[in-house]
Amino acid sequence: MVEPIRRSTRADREKWINEASFNLFKLRSEYVFIDLLTDSGTGAMSDRQWSEMMLGDESYAGASSYFKMKDTIKEILGFEYFLPTHQGRAAENVLFSALVKAGDIVPGNSHFDTTKGHIEFRKARAVDCTIAEAFDTTVYHPFKGNVDLEKLEDVLRSNPKEKIPFIVVTVTCNSSGGQPVSMANLKGIRNLANKYGVKVLIDAARFAENAYFIKTREDGFKDRTIREIVLEMFGTADFMTMSSKKDAIVNMGGFIGMREKEIFDKASVFNIMFEGYITYGGMSGRDMNALSQGLREGTEFDYLETRIKQVAYLGSRLVEFGVPVQQPFGGHAIFVDAKRFLPQLPKEQFHAQTLAVELYLESGVRGVEIGALLADRDPETRENRFPALELLRLTIPRRVYTNNHMDYVATALANVYDRSNSITRGLKIVREAPIMRHFTVDLERV
Ligand code: F0G
Repeated sequence: MVEPIRRSTRADREKWINEASFNLFKLRSEYVFIDLLTDSGTGAMSDRQWSEMMLGDESYAGASSYFKMKDTIKEILGFEYFLPTHQGRAAENVLFSALVKAGDIVPGNSHFDTTKGHIEFRKARAVDCTIAEAFDTTVYHPFKGNVDLEKLEDVLRSNPKEKIPFIVVTVTCNSSGGQPVSMANLKGIRNLANKYGVKVLIDAARFAENAYFIKTREDGFKDRTIREIVLEMFGTADFMTMSSKKDAIVNMGGFIGMREKEIFDKASVFNIMFEGYITYGGMSGRDMNALSQGLREGTEFDYLETRIKQVAYLGSRLVEFGVPVQQPFGGHAIFVDAKRFLPQLPKEQFHAQTLAVELYLESGVRGVEIGALLADRDPETRENRFPALELLRLTIPRRVYTNNHMDYVATALANVYDRSNSITRGLKIVREAPIMRHFTVDLERV
């Protein structure tokens, strides 16, 4: 699939970003030249996936497309039970409705915003146990998504197990920079879970990219296939939620994988209420077919290597220009350290959002803020939460852009870097929603 992209002038972009209240989510996509807002649902489907769409079975109950997806999930991920949902957060909504209650505690590695949202919405608390190295972009660690097992054990020791519905492990860890979790760490988490009698959930959106990093960075895995590594990773979990819009390379879709019938039965009730009958759960038959095929393609080594090396290509270009980025490079995106890029701004003026706006004005490239806007307010004190890192995420869609586009992005950001001293004003909030405010917030220049 080839799609046109459109150039614009700086004057156009000034007008559009003002109309969008300095919130890049509010821009029309035609106003964007290269769109690195997200890798979610923005990949290009393959010839085989489009062929699979023609074979979709749209029966309400018991469609062959459902069984194709069920068999693929069993084969590739190893889960006996599954429920389709329309996307990842829907999977969270259904599973958490069955498992999370007010007052619960859910430890994990930098929970993704919808995951945290679904926990806090139920008046439970997400506790971040990511290793400290993840929050320093200047130190090298091959697995910056890892859970600090001591921090985790502290949480497990100091709370009754009835209050801990599960530990959530996000692979790769989006919020810390698309950073992988090692197999050794996954096994360490499993051992602690067994010791304290709690369950483990894998938030699996980018599981295949995680497996690629295990294969290429962790001792003992270089001769193992991606599929073998994937099965071993999921072997450490009791259940999984999946946003298929990432590593299953479809535009929409998600699912929950489970081992126990009891949990499947409980979750099924909420699936029927929120998503649809258990054999389609918000997805068309054709979409389930494309998803099954996407899971196969997404777990091929050559595809993963091409993709992850393209992300690293952008990262290397930026490093050549001296731009401060999270290292090692993540699987799906390059994360620019906006505090180091714009050290002159106070944190109250939103470093990463200011930088995202500057990059858009410079070039029409749209990135996304992973910083204080995304971190939201503390649900109890209602104070702004200022995370350790203010990151501008440049997220690369799968099978869409060429390295030529990456060169353009790198050069544009280098231009902003060259004039970064002249950026002395950040942004302030004019209006915000009570939860997940970054999607709809209105801002103005300070
Ligand atoms: N978990 C992770 C790790 C994610 O990155 C996302 C979405 C979700 C869950 C929720 O899935 O969007 O299908 O409902 N991440 C997208 C992003 C939105 O841009 O990183 P969803």
